[in-house]
Amino acid sequence: MRSLLAEHLRTHTRTCHARLDARLGLPGSVRTRTDLAVLLHALVTAWQPLEEALHGVDGWAEVGLDPRLGDASDLLHRDLDVLGRPDTPAAHVVALRPFGSLPEAVGARYVLLGSAMGGRAIAPVVEHELGLVRGEATGFFRRSGMDPGADWARFQRATADLDTPAALAGALSGAQLAFDVIGAAAAAQVPWPLPGRPDGLGRPAGPAGEGRVRVVSRPPS
Ligand code: HEM
Repeated sequence: MRSLLAEHLRTHTRTCHARLDARLGLPGSVRTRTDLAVLLHALVTAWQPLEEALHGVDGWAEVGLDPRLGDASDLLHRDLDVLGRPDTPAAHVVALRPFGSLPEAVGARYVLLGSAMGGRAIAPVVEHELGLVRGEATGFFRRSGMDPGADWARFQRATADLDTPAALAGALSGAQLAFDVIGAAAAAQVPWPLPGRPDGLGRPAGPAGEGRVRVVSRPPS
């Protein structure tokens, strides 16, 4: 059973999801190991600061949630290690302001947890396309070693009482911010959609930074 908050977020972030889907063009946009590495690299640029910001929020205990529920940056790093980190673009840093409230953080966590649903569908297609065995460099999509269904259910239960207008508004703001961060990291680093791809809209990568988020280049260390 969905919490009111999760229902609210699903309804009001549909456009954010569709925009990100169009930008990532998955699963068809990943045709080579380098494509996959570029994508995972962009994702970790967003995931890691988001997760770190979530860890720093007070109040998780009030709703009975682990601040690290569903953390997946380690899986992104592991997948990149499997791929040998080939020719990924220069590192980018997402400049992220801290979350201002627990509901905002809950909204962002919703986005990170929810992405596992898409990952489940994406993983087998990418594995087939690249000739990977199950879970090879797709640990993030599959949330290997984790139980995303249980995490999602725990999240629904814990957020059932966050149903005031202020909580819903705060959560929506946090969810939109998370989508913006991921979108900005992708816009700065993912070179597709490109002409000639089935998903190709002929658009080059957009300018770095979308909405309230700034992405800055960091010289390789
Ligand atoms: C990193 C990028 C992505 C993020 C942050 C993200 C986020 C989310 C979120 C928050 C949900 C939960 C919606 C709900 O409340 O039920 C969701 C569900 C879903 N996403 Fe994504 N998503 C991402 C990429 C994708 C991609 C590329 C696809 C397409 C292949 C996709 C397909 C789906 C599907 C099929 C669901 C389940 C929808 C449902 O059962 O109602 N996602 N995603």
